[in-house]
Amino acid sequence: MNYTTHDYSQSELAYKEFLRPSLQQAVDLLDIQGGFKILDAGCGPGAMFSYFAEKLNSTGIIYGIDASDIHLEAAHQIVKTNNFEKIVSLKNVNLFEDLPFENDYFDIIWLSDVLFPDDFGEQIYPTLKALYKILKPGGRIGIFYGNWLRLELLPGYTTIEHYISIANEKRKSSEFPWKPEVHPENAFRWLNECGFISCENKYVSTYYQSPLQNKTKNYLHYHLTQIYGKAIEFRLADFHISQTLIDEFHKITNLKDPEYILYSPFYHCAIHGQLTIGHKKPIIK
Ligand SMILES: C[S@@+](CC[C@H](N)C(=O)[O-])C[C@H]1O[C@@H](n2cnc3c(N)ncnc32)[C@H](O)[C@@H]1O
Repeated sequence: MNYTTHDYSQSELAYKEFLRPSLQQAVDLLDIQGGFKILDAGCGPGAMFSYFAEKLNSTGIIYGIDASDIHLEAAHQIVKTNNFEKIVSLKNVNLFEDLPFENDYFDIIWLSDVLFPDDFGEQIYPTLKALYKILKPGGRIGIFYGNWLRLELLPGYTTIEHYISIANEKRKSSEFPWKPEVHPENAFRWLNECGFISCENKYVSTYYQSPLQNKTKNYLHYHLTQIYGKAIEFRLADFHISQTLIDEFHKITNLKDPEYILYSPFYHCAIHGQLTIGHKKPIIK
């Protein structure tokens, strides 16, 4: 599928809203100051602008770049709705091509859920080296992944949830086998190998428990029925998983069933995000 024509802006915004606790923790860790120049590389529909705008407090600038006009159009709507015109600048830029920014320009470069092995593969390294050039000495890069496929949304049903994780990773890596070097869990290594210093991995989490707000329940229902449901439908045949387990999954994710899991007063879920931070060496005078 061509990422420049595939419009998943609304589901991406809903997912990022669901991950708000993780994103807030991640942005707090970047220590953003007023007046900073921030690059949101692969900004998609613009879910991050409000976090950055709040930290900038009306001074500084956020450049949102993406290669998808469809996602930039959705980002434009976010800018308009929130009156971010003075603080956000949007541009169609392909991260595989020359970047239209001066060297040593940005205080912060942010990439959330962008550097995927299937889209980027070995291109992750030249992309990060190009981003290094446009970061200021002493500036920071943050690479964020919202969940690394292994969510905990079905308390007590670990067998089926493990199968779903494997099915999803198999689907994503079916065209290009994911070598460990390009796997997001190695973002720490990418940054080190691309010249960044003082790199560190941080884990940021989102937890919810009953009683759930409607918007959280709606997102979870979508995730369980669409994302998990599709994994069950299309891939689990590969694993010879028992019909009993599949029936149980359908029961607990069926809104009309008394055992629907999101109605349980004991429901809880956890999603663990990964933030990898690196710095460009400061100039010592
Ligand atoms: C999963 S979305 C994440 C969007 C946003 N960063 C967020 O956290 O909501 C990935 C985005 O990366 C963009 N992208 C993928 N490859 C790209 C490339 N080579 N150059 C620029 N953008 C790219 C896609 O168009 C998409 O909008």
